[in-house]
Amino acid sequence: MSHFQIEGGRPLSGALEIQGAKNSVLPILAATLLVPGECVIRNCPDLSDVTDTLEILKYLGCQVYREGNAVFVDAKELKRDTIPTCLMRKMRSSVIFLGPLLARRGRACLALPGGCELGPRPIDLHLMALKNLGARIEEEQGTVCCVADGLKGREICLPVPSVGATENAMLCACGCEGVTTIVGTAREPEIVDLQNFLCAMGADVSGAGERVLTIRGGRALHGGEYTVMGDRIAAATYLCATAAAGGAIELTGVDPAHLGAVLRALEQAGCVLTEEKSRIGLTSCGSLHGIAPVRTAPFPGFPTDAQAILMAALAGGRGCTMFVENIFESRYGHVDELCRMGADIQTFGRVAVVTGVGMLRGAEVRGCDLRCGAALVVAGLAARGKTQVGGLRHIRRGYDDLAGNLRRLGADIREMI
Ligand code: UD1
Repeated sequence: MSHFQIEGGRPLSGALEIQGAKNSVLPILAATLLVPGECVIRNCPDLSDVTDTLEILKYLGCQVYREGNAVFVDAKELKRDTIPTCLMRKMRSSVIFLGPLLARRGRACLALPGGCELGPRPIDLHLMALKNLGARIEEEQGTVCCVADGLKGREICLPVPSVGATENAMLCACGCEGVTTIVGTAREPEIVDLQNFLCAMGADVSGAGERVLTIRGGRALHGGEYTVMGDRIAAATYLCATAAAGGAIELTGVDPAHLGAVLRALEQAGCVLTEEKSRIGLTSCGSLHGIAPVRTAPFPGFPTDAQAILMAALAGGRGCTMFVENIFESRYGHVDELCRMGADIQTFGRVAVVTGVGMLRGAEVRGCDLRCGAALVVAGLAARGKTQVGGLRHIRRGYDDLAGNLRRLGADIREMI
């Protein structure tokens, strides 16, 4: 089994251009289904989730090719509206294809995404939004089909600001006649990026980043070019790695406004941060200390995707920090693995209390999901001795050349096959 081998204790230093955002590029690629022309997506990271998404687009009939970090998608002629189980299994977030397929073809069917390592991940809000726009939903034997004779813009109220449901509703509404307003939307930066992409292709969408989104649907969309924003969670990972292992780094291609809650937490823990327009600098000032409770919340709150990564950094520091995971039910899969490295972490349901032990020690550990894997790499970089991190297939879903980037910053990390 391939794994990362890390010799911990080396400080990180230097500059790094942050990859394009995974959580932006996936809905943007799904959105290309709405466009009967060629879309060029630039700053597209090389991730297994992107490869799997491109496979789905090809299966549906799109012309797709990739040149470095640019992806070309032409959805002029779609020939299918059903995504088979084998393609769905690979990509949990492929539920995002429902909205644009329905809008373009009047029908969208896919195998239901299974349970996942973060606890149950329902899609009821996605379906409720599509139903509001006029879809009939048929569910049988693990497959969901949305069918519509005529979609019509309407008001959609989301009781929970779900990122995926907001995106699915936005995408479907672009293909509906009339005006759709989505109330109680997610306000994550990735929603703003999706809006910017849609507008660049001729759609009329406004309000992203606020509580109400307005989509004037039925516009004829056209091909064009778009550059995906920088990945705030990848940035948080490199920052936490430096905070934990020591050193000083400068990240470019990421907006500090997208990372406010993470930057404030690292500052409280004792790091010095500098922020410019699309640049973040971090200098470590020795051992990290405990900070005020970290409660995950929808943007602009502390992102659930950075919870494991910050916890890994603080586990090898000094002092106590309480974490409260409010977004997903089972997102403490990293805790047992960190404890194998000597961490002192107690969990009580949604709460985890971390008591810094001064220094973690190297061990053989395994990432059980994407951010768990990244957290173990952060822990390994700061630990005394050798750490072996397995479960690389999870890490490849979201990080473009994580080991290579860390090596260029001075880490001793190798991929063993
Ligand atoms: C997206 C991100 C993921 C991030 C999460 C929260 C992508 C590809 N993934 O996931 O990295 O961790 O946002 O920031 O962008 N919910 C329902 N019913 C639904 C949908 C969601 O109850 O139909 C609940 C979920 O169980 C969860 C909460 O809403 O408790 C937030 O989930 P959501 O924002 O939808 O997350 P994703 O879009 O799946």
